[in-house]
Amino acid sequence: MSDSFDIIVIGGGTAGYPAAIRASQLGMSVACVERRPTLGGTCLNVGCIPSKALLHSTELFADVSEGLEEHGIGIGGVALNLCQLIKRKDEVVAGLTKGVEQLLRKNKVEWVKGSARFEAPDRLAIELGEGGTRTLTASKAILVATGSDVARLPGIEIDEDRIISNMGALSLKKVPEHLVVIGAGYIGLELGSVWRRLGAKVTVVEFLDGIVPNMDREIARHLHRLLEKQGLEFRFSTKVTGAEKRTDDLLVSLEPSKGGDTETMAADVVLVAVGRRPYTDGLGLERVGIRLDEKGRIPVETGFKTAASGIYAIGDVIAGPMLAHKTTLDGVRCVEGIAGRDASVDYNTVPEVIYTSPEVASVGKTEEELKAAGVAYKSGTFPFTANSRARCNGDTRGLTKILADARTDQLLGVHIIGPDAGTIIHEAVLAMEFGGASEDLALTTHAHPTLPESLKEAALVLLGQGMHI
Ligand code: NAI
Repeated sequence: MSDSFDIIVIGGGTAGYPAAIRASQLGMSVACVERRPTLGGTCLNVGCIPSKALLHSTELFADVSEGLEEHGIGIGGVALNLCQLIKRKDEVVAGLTKGVEQLLRKNKVEWVKGSARFEAPDRLAIELGEGGTRTLTASKAILVATGSDVARLPGIEIDEDRIISNMGALSLKKVPEHLVVIGAGYIGLELGSVWRRLGAKVTVVEFLDGIVPNMDREIARHLHRLLEKQGLEFRFSTKVTGAEKRTDDLLVSLEPSKGGDTETMAADVVLVAVGRRPYTDGLGLERVGIRLDEKGRIPVETGFKTAASGIYAIGDVIAGPMLAHKTTLDGVRCVEGIAGRDASVDYNTVPEVIYTSPEVASVGKTEEELKAAGVAYKSGTFPFTANSRARCNGDTRGLTKILADARTDQLLGVHIIGPDAGTIIHEAVLAMEFGGASEDLALTTHAHPTLPESLKEAALVLLGQGMHI
């Protein structure tokens, strides 16, 4: 077994493993260091994948519990088997993480099971999971792809039992009576939805005055209303200052964000979902001259190069949206750059999806961002109530909104809240990748009746040619 490779990737998550595979495809010898017993990082093990499995199962549960009479389908006695629901989620995760292991093997990437620490810019000491150490050297590059960790709140210690992060929220043993979620971001809304659908009272406490601060506000207000209809309760402009563990429950202390009188609320589980922080603990970056920025991220220049020659950083440890597909983009482009190809990335065309019901999906700029930048834009919106397929399906919640340059018509942003928004958005992503205009969407023939027709219709509205509204 050789200890010398062309490239060593630290981290086997959605940034690291695709980087390793691509490097191997480009003819390099590659090792991927990962200490978790399974590959795939946060996304596959405790993030995107298990949460989507739970979101899907609980949406089915909600549908059959309350939603099918209208279709003429009566179902008696719907029962929840939480143990099976969680087991299925674990099986989905296990299948996919094993799949990644096979992919590394197929691509001749060696998975080194252990924790890496820099000894020199081209040398790592690996503390092996099975015991002992190994020293690895890289002739071309070492990629740091160590991801992110849950951001914590002072005074609220996560025990993954009663005070939980996304990790604990994926495996609760019973449905809590009252779940208090701290943070109305991606995790809070998705996992809050999961447990609400299974019957928990869910209160979401948010520091700011609305949900998901970086979302287009029109869409955010819409989502807020729809989630309230599903029974989620919101407390805005409020912060949680403590969670005292009592024998049978937790006493959560709340305060207005700007300061003021404290009030308390009883809960049996508290979910901390106030963001994530880049994870670089124990890597020994200081030893190779890499200094973190004020947010704990590794600064990089074009091509993902760090301040240390031969060391690159990708994924959640650098700036940009903390999204699995963005980290994969980083990983692949970084390796392409090392191989002498184009390493440029455009985060403006990275889509964002929240897998609530309905889904919210967006790409490009929000209306607020365009206003702040002084860009002259036109907008067109189209509600799903006017989309015939949504009517057939009996789900007409939401709308499609397109923002385009007032002068050139180039697409600047597309925001969708509605059924299958996370799928529909990719047409807009592709159009934007090609520098497309709203006219391109309007001139594209869409099959009828389909949900993506809403994009074409919104484009027609923007152009003053609205047909079905
Ligand atoms: P987030 O950044 O999406 O939202 C955190 C929320 O917590 C913000 O609204 C913030 O204002 C609020 N907050 C912060 N401090 C607070 C306090 N003391 N009290 C009350 N509210 C407070 O972070 P989240 O939801 O934890 O997700 C972490 C990361 O994971 C995000 O970067 C997200 O992009 C990613 N993620 C993506 C998903 C997707 O693509 N569907 C799903 C889940 C996570």
